Amino acid sequence: MEKLIGQTRLVLTQGDITQADTEAIVNAANSRLVGGGGVDGAIHRAGGPEIMAECRKIGSCPTGEAVITTAGRLKAKKVIHTVGPIYRGRPEDPRLLASAYSNSMDLAAKHGLRTVAFPSLSTGAYGYPLDAAAKVALQALKQGIEKNSDKFDEVRFVLFGKDAFEAYAEALGRI
Ligand code: APR
Repeated sequence: MEKLIGQTRLVLTQGDITQADTEAIVNAANSRLVGGGGVDGAIHRAGGPEIMAECRKIGSCPTGEAVITTAGRLKAKKVIHTVGPIYRGRPEDPRLLASAYSNSMDLAAKHGLRTVAFPSLSTGAYGYPLDAAAKVALQALKQGIEKNSDKFDEVRFVLFGKDAFEAYAEALGRI
């Protein structure tokens, strides 16, 4: 499923983000950049130890911010590590989630990465309700594409499972 925003394709797919053939893959990291399960575990497992070596040098990443490292053995050129909020139902949750997406887009644009794959940030271990996260995510990406209008050919979501795909498809229809 996809939507054209300016010259950029916003695409929804299902699968394993470590297989994405985009120039940048976004990791759902934690603020200590120490790796974990879910997307984080999959990316470090598939990408190899070079990624963690660069994460160690960077040291940390505040929630809502993004940092960039090598992609190691992955097809991508770079991994952008961003930290979504741990969901607590606070007013700042959507703001922090949106800034994780927009800071990742800005970093990709700065590094000339024209195709980017995102996971559904914060909706796994961090407990963000899928429907609410999908609305925030797609709105943030639409704004990120419009802000960096000539910088991206494709921004792709790689969603794990039908429920996630349907939540994002619903939200895509509304932006
Ligand atoms: N490819 C694509 N999506 C995936 C994959 C994968 N290989 N593995 C999991 N997902 C999905 C999950 O189903 C969920 O919808 O990615 C979404 C985000 O889940 P998490 O990876 O748990 O990320 P998050 O909720 O942001 O929690 C981050 O978990 O792994 C730790 O170190 C990480 O502390 C951090 C926290």
